[in-house]
Amino acid sequence: MTNIVGQGLVRVDGRDKVCGRATYAAEFEAAGMVHAVLLTSTVARGRVERIDTQAAEAEPGVLAVITARNAMPLPDRGRGASQSPAGRARSLLQDDSVSYNGEPVAIVVADTLERAAAAARLLRVRYSQASEAVVAFDQAKASPHDPGQMQGRSSDSNRGNVTAGLRDAVQVHQAIYTTPIEHHNPMEPHATIAQWNAAGDRLTVHDSTQAISGSRDTLAKTFGIATDNVVVLCPFVGGGFGCKGSSWSHVALAAMASRQVGRPVKLVLERPQMFGSVGHRPHTEQTLSIGAAADGQFTALHHGVVSETSMIEDWTERSAVVSRMLYACDNQSTTHRLARMNIAVPTFTRAPGEASGCFALECAVDEMATLLAMDPLALRLRNYTETDPDSGLPFSSKSLRECYRVGAERFGWRHRPLQAGTLRDGHWRIGMGMATATYPTNRSPAEALVRMMADGAAVLQCGSQDLGTGTLTVMAQVAADALGIPVSRVRFELGDSRMPKSPGSGGSQTAASVAPAVQAACLAMRAKLVDLARTDGQSSLRDRPVAELTVVDGWVRPVSAGSGGESVNALIGRMQGAPLEARAQTAPGDEKKRFSMHAFGAVFAEVRVDDALGIIRVPRIVGVYGVGNRLNARTAHSQLMGGIVWGVGMALFEETWRDERNGRYVNASLAEYHVPVNADIGDIDVQFVPEDDPHVNPLGVKGIGEIGITGVAAAIANAVYHATGKRVRDLPVTLDKLI
Ligand code: MOS
Repeated sequence: MTNIVGQGLVRVDGRDKVCGRATYAAEFEAAGMVHAVLLTSTVARGRVERIDTQAAEAEPGVLAVITARNAMPLPDRGRGASQSPAGRARSLLQDDSVSYNGEPVAIVVADTLERAAAAARLLRVRYSQASEAVVAFDQAKASPHDPGQMQGRSSDSNRGNVTAGLRDAVQVHQAIYTTPIEHHNPMEPHATIAQWNAAGDRLTVHDSTQAISGSRDTLAKTFGIATDNVVVLCPFVGGGFGCKGSSWSHVALAAMASRQVGRPVKLVLERPQMFGSVGHRPHTEQTLSIGAAADGQFTALHHGVVSETSMIEDWTERSAVVSRMLYACDNQSTTHRLARMNIAVPTFTRAPGEASGCFALECAVDEMATLLAMDPLALRLRNYTETDPDSGLPFSSKSLRECYRVGAERFGWRHRPLQAGTLRDGHWRIGMGMATATYPTNRSPAEALVRMMADGAAVLQCGSQDLGTGTLTVMAQVAADALGIPVSRVRFELGDSRMPKSPGSGGSQTAASVAPAVQAACLAMRAKLVDLARTDGQSSLRDRPVAELTVVDGWVRPVSAGSGGESVNALIGRMQGAPLEARAQTAPGDEKKRFSMHAFGAVFAEVRVDDALGIIRVPRIVGVYGVGNRLNARTAHSQLMGGIVWGVGMALFEETWRDERNGRYVNASLAEYHVPVNADIGDIDVQFVPEDDPHVNPLGVKGIGEIGITGVAAAIANAVYHATGKRVRDLPVTLDKLI
């Protein structure tokens, strides 16, 4: 049945995107639409004592200046949807407190964007600051607290006896690794257009979001209206990476402004505001302790994490979860602690926890290999585990050994000298490093609907969203195979919260959640088509047994025949407009109770470091992955390559600097917050090993949105050590840390 799934079909929405016909949230028009601009705080802690609004209000075209003084009161002061982790603590102008720099304190609404922006500059805000803001991590970490739970996982883990394991070790490595604040910065900023009906009880929003149902639920709770009275539309997303996984303040503020001025309101965050009230990857400080026997077997492994969080909500970067399951080790413990600061709420950022944690763990393993004078890959194989040591469960599938083998082969790992600092090409020092990639395989309930049209085309609907990952394309492939019609006859629709419910696109779960629902709905439709062919009065297949019929290439045919039968077009056409519709709801069963489900990969990197200047180049990376069944070879390759590119950014460039006097981000622009450009990226060789996993979901697909970034920073940092003999434990690895 599968012949289209897996093929490297070009994106079905590619042409529309390239031609500018794909309409993103901010590009919709509405009659009478006006524009809102956010004003954000310039202090990290205090109260808004006064905002002089007169000058702004007097400007031409200005419709409203909304502050805590005149904002519409919300039920429960706007906290009705603030259950962590998905329902965030937001700033909805319900009081005058300020708890971080960059917090929304006013909205200006005008007939044009320019007038709104100009008027916003005329606002004068006076703050009172009763006590000092906590904006220095070192100060905050002095009194850390235990979050207890972190997105459903326990903050600590413990098995065996780490102290004894360290005592019995022949070699012990202990070090602290840090990762900086990172901001997501998708090409398309956060954007919302909000519009109420005349009675003010029904709300429609165009929102750039990773979760249309989450955005809808948050808005409904915030305004105290029925869920069905909110419609969220989002046909295209220009990237999300976690920051659009939650409905932040600006979404509800746009709706509030619309209600107060009685017009549709568009609110688009400015690029600097992308570094403000919409989440970030928090700074982490990670302590790794590894003990090993002479043969390399780990006798103890401890991973302790302290990460920053906000005053208004606890959010934990779960960096140590990888250390719980990656290696066989009887004595193991992990801890997560939080340092509370006057900063914006951190959030999910591509592989939240796994990306930052893999850096620390996989560098520490590399350092242990150096202590043991052992090949780093051999050390990993020495501690390879076939069962999840955390849960004790078998893996549903694990192809990491094969990933290591194929990666080492393609990279030429055997040419790597054990000794660091020995490879050279003129003034370039050359190094080779590797690390492991891993991400859990998630799945949630989903629902899909399929309708056969009079012309024989199929229209699929699912309230999902396509972040740019290829959901529209791969789901059309899944539907075509399941229906037995060409993919060109399938139209897949998403991005409307009135469609059958699908989970948010986070945790790399969209393909694994939505594809089973699409497949099930289409298989139900297939059965209906067969039934129609057997019961339709004019059908040549009338009264044939079900078992003798199949649907292929848009025809219902006898299984034994290569041609003939009834075309789906003809069958639907004879129904005289009566719709043929099928729906399915699918959900994970108890497989997570029986199996530990993760994707794995191996990353190999070569770096060149200029001897005198410390300039770092990454001429080539090999990434090999075991991620189950791929729905589309091309989009899968792109996903992994994109993840690796971000990994290069994490390794070498990305960091947001916070001014430790006032908590303000000082490089809040793409000019000063560096992401890789073409010239920074060398050859990236992405490979997949075959992996058949019947347990994860009916299509055997593992999510690939996030695994690509994991392991890359460690592989590069390890390669830099191998080139130079200098170990940089603080990301990003920049030249000043090498010379
Ligand atoms: Mo992903 S950081 O769960 O959007």
